[in-house]
Amino acid sequence: MDKKTALQRQKTLFNIFNENTTQTKDQIIIINKSRLLEILDDLFKIQNIKDLKIKLKKIRYILTYPDEDNLGILNIDKNGDTIEIKRDYLINEFVQIEKTLTLERARYYLKRLKKALTEIKTNKINDINLNRWKEYDEIITDSLWIFDKRDTSGAHLAWYWGNFIPQIPHQLMLRYTKKGDWVLDPFVGSGTTLIECRRLGRNGIGIEINPDVAERAKHLIEREPNRFDVITDIIVGDSTQIDLKKVLYERNIKKVQLVIMHPPYHDIIKFSDNPNDLSNAPTTEKFLEMFGKVLDNIIPVLEEGRYLAIVIGDKYSKGEWIPLGFYVMNEVLKRKKFILKSIIVKNFEETRAKRNQKELWRYRALVGGFYVFKHEYILLFRKIRG
Ligand SMILES: C[S@@+](CC[C@H](N)C(=O)[O-])C[C@H]1O[C@@H](n2cnc3c(N)ncnc32)[C@H](O)[C@@H]1O
Repeated sequence: MDKKTALQRQKTLFNIFNENTTQTKDQIIIINKSRLLEILDDLFKIQNIKDLKIKLKKIRYILTYPDEDNLGILNIDKNGDTIEIKRDYLINEFVQIEKTLTLERARYYLKRLKKALTEIKTNKINDINLNRWKEYDEIITDSLWIFDKRDTSGAHLAWYWGNFIPQIPHQLMLRYTKKGDWVLDPFVGSGTTLIECRRLGRNGIGIEINPDVAERAKHLIEREPNRFDVITDIIVGDSTQIDLKKVLYERNIKKVQLVIMHPPYHDIIKFSDNPNDLSNAPTTEKFLEMFGKVLDNIIPVLEEGRYLAIVIGDKYSKGEWIPLGFYVMNEVLKRKKFILKSIIVKNFEETRAKRNQKELWRYRALVGGFYVFKHEYILLFRKIRG
């Protein structure tokens, strides 16, 4: 392939990433790894900071204008000796080295960059390469999650009243699973978790009490391409009593590595007429008892050291704020099998319907002395025993 075609390809790749990836807008470039390492070694040998900066500037220029590349770093087809890297990240690394005042510091950064390009450092619960952590800007690490709109790409049609936004399972899986791990969602609803499983290459099992909803979810999930060839199964069943060990055994799975629970927020939305549906619990106490049964069911199948995430909001009843989130948190903690890792507060995105009612709710809040719900919780626990 000639240089021009290779360049064109590289540009097309930029576009593909920009158009199809809702999570990141950064351009990914293909780097000739051995050539770049050679160059880094040469830079390391330079004895004068001024000369070093001139060379660094040149590389930065090439990264910005790939068609000017006369060093052989870019314009190459992907192969075993190339790496894909965020262009901005690499440029920023060079800028940082350029800004140093001493050769010693510059060499420290050069060494660090070489390490980032050659060594992978991950931990047991995800695939994040900590040597290149700066490239993961799509991963949220703050406890306040603000999303202004939901991801509606692919099979995420948002047809189900009471679903969660795909960004939630997306974030959780990136942080708490590796490719090929198993994710269990005992309140799977429209299958948002399983659609994300397919996107990210995780296997997923969802349980849903309402057969009609489960059926529709199954069809939708099938519409999502299965590039990583994972299993995404929906089982119609009641999570308070389904034999999960049997479900896993039948699939030859020992344990799951992440559980995402998005139960009804008690009776805020009535999901079905089934008395075992948590949204039909006659009282808060009964709701918590049923929730506890689901917990007792999932605990034995979750691998030790792995995570449980609960997505839940509070509710008002007869003028009183009912802190379902905290009640549910206590249900988990009192079992003494988990430690609390985070309480994340997430905003409710504004839909058109909500926007239209904004004034009305503001008036009601002023009259009634309450606050309008704008947030829900993502409670994160790590299993430590049992
Ligand atoms: C808040 S929704 C989950 C929505 C889901 N995260 C999505 O994005 O579509 C809760 C779901 O739990 C289901 N559900 C309620 N009680 C259940 C039970 N005992 N076992 C299994 N599913 C149940 C409801 O039918 C409802 O679909």
